[in-house]
Amino acid sequence: FNTIDDMDLAGKVVLTRVDVNVPVENGQVTDATRIEKIVPTVKAIQDKGGVPVLLAHFDRPKGKRVDTMSLRQILPALESALGQKVQFADEAIGGDAKRAVAGLQPGDVLLLENARFYPGEESNDATFAASLAALGQAYVNDAFSAAHRAHASTEGLGRLMPSGAGKLMEAELNALDSALGDPDRPVVAVIGGAKVSTKLDLLSNLIEKVDHLVIGGGMANTFLVAKGIEVGKSLAERDMADTAREILDKAQSTGCSIHLPVDVVVAREFKAGAPSEVVPANACPADAMILDAGPQTVAAIREVFAACRTLIWNGPLGAFEIEPFDAATNAVAQAAAQLTREGKLVSVAGGGDTVAALNKAGVADDFSFISTAGGAFLEWMEGKDLPGVAVLVAAKR
Ligand code: 3PG
Repeated sequence: FNTIDDMDLAGKVVLTRVDVNVPVENGQVTDATRIEKIVPTVKAIQDKGGVPVLLAHFDRPKGKRVDTMSLRQILPALESALGQKVQFADEAIGGDAKRAVAGLQPGDVLLLENARFYPGEESNDATFAASLAALGQAYVNDAFSAAHRAHASTEGLGRLMPSGAGKLMEAELNALDSALGDPDRPVVAVIGGAKVSTKLDLLSNLIEKVDHLVIGGGMANTFLVAKGIEVGKSLAERDMADTAREILDKAQSTGCSIHLPVDVVVAREFKAGAPSEVVPANACPADAMILDAGPQTVAAIREVFAACRTLIWNGPLGAFEIEPFDAATNAVAQAAAQLTREGKLVSVAGGGDTVAALNKAGVADDFSFISTAGGAFLEWMEGKDLPGVAVLVAAKR
C-alpha cells in the first residue's frame, strides 16, 4: 500500500479517515488515546502541503442524526491534541460540507460530522461515497481500528481516489506483521476472555501460526471440561467441549503447544475481596468457581515467554476487573513487559479489555506495540482480510 510519503498532497484537500470513536461521559472525552494517535498523520499531511479534512464515525447512530452522537463533542480534545483550532462542519456531505471545505486555508484542519448519520456510510453506497470523494483530491485512511468495516469512508473511498495509509495505520500493520505475519520465532499467543464460542476462528487460525498458545480466562474452563475435568460453578460452555477437544487435537498435528491452567484461584462468590484459595486445576470444589489462574500457571507462562521471541496477546487471564482476581493477568503482563524492556521479546497486544488490563497493571508503555483496535485486531488475528486494508493494497497495484 501507499503511505503518506508516497503521495503527492501539495495543495490538495485530503480526506483523512480517522477513528476517534472514544469513550465519552457527560460530553467529556474520558480516554483520548485514539485522538492522540492521529496527530502524526495530520501533521504529516500538513507538512506535505495538504489540508486534512477528517472523516470519522462516532458510536452507532444507524444512519440517522442522533445529537448525542455528534462528533462536535470531541472537538476540544482534538484541538488540544493537535495544538490548533479545528473547524467543524455540521454535515459530512452536501452544501455545508462543501462550503466548509471551500473556506479552508493551508494549515487548517476540518472535522466533518459523523459519517454514520448517513445510511450510505454503512451500506457503502456508491452515491454517498462519490459525494464524500467530491470534497477532496486524495484519501488517507488512518483508521485501522475501523478497517474491518466495508463502509463508504473506510473502503468505498479507496476505490474512488488516490489512496494511502496514514501513520497510525502503517504502524498498526507493521506491528501486526512483526507479530504474526513474519515474526521472530518462537511465537506465543495469549488468548483469554470469557467464551470459546466467540473466539473459535481465532483459536483455529492461531494454532496454525504460533508455537505456543496460552489459554486463560473463562474460556480455559471450557478446555478443562473438554479434558474431563470438573470445574464446579465456573463459567464454562459445556456445549463447546467437543469443539475445544477438536482444537486440542488439531494443535497436536500443527505442532502448537497449548498451555492450560495447572492451578487456579477459586472463590464461592464473585465479588471484590471474596475469600479465595489456590487449588490444582483438577480440584475445583463443586460449590466454587474459577476466577483466575494460579501461581504455578503464572510461573509456567513466564517460562514459555522466556523461551519465545514474540508475544501476541488478546484477553485477560482472569476476572481482572475485580481484585484479587487480577493477580495472574498482572504478573504475566509484568513478565512480558520486563522481557520487552530487556530486548528479548517483541510484545503486541490489542482489544479493549486487554489494553485496560495492561494499563491497570501499569505496563502498557513497556509493550512493543498496543493496538488501538478491538474488533479489527481480532479479525486480523483470525486471519481475515480487512476491507479497509485490502482496498489500500489494491490501490497500490
Ligand atoms: C471500535 O470502536 O472498535 C471501532 O471504532 C469500530 O466501531 P464499530 O464496532 O461500531 O464499527
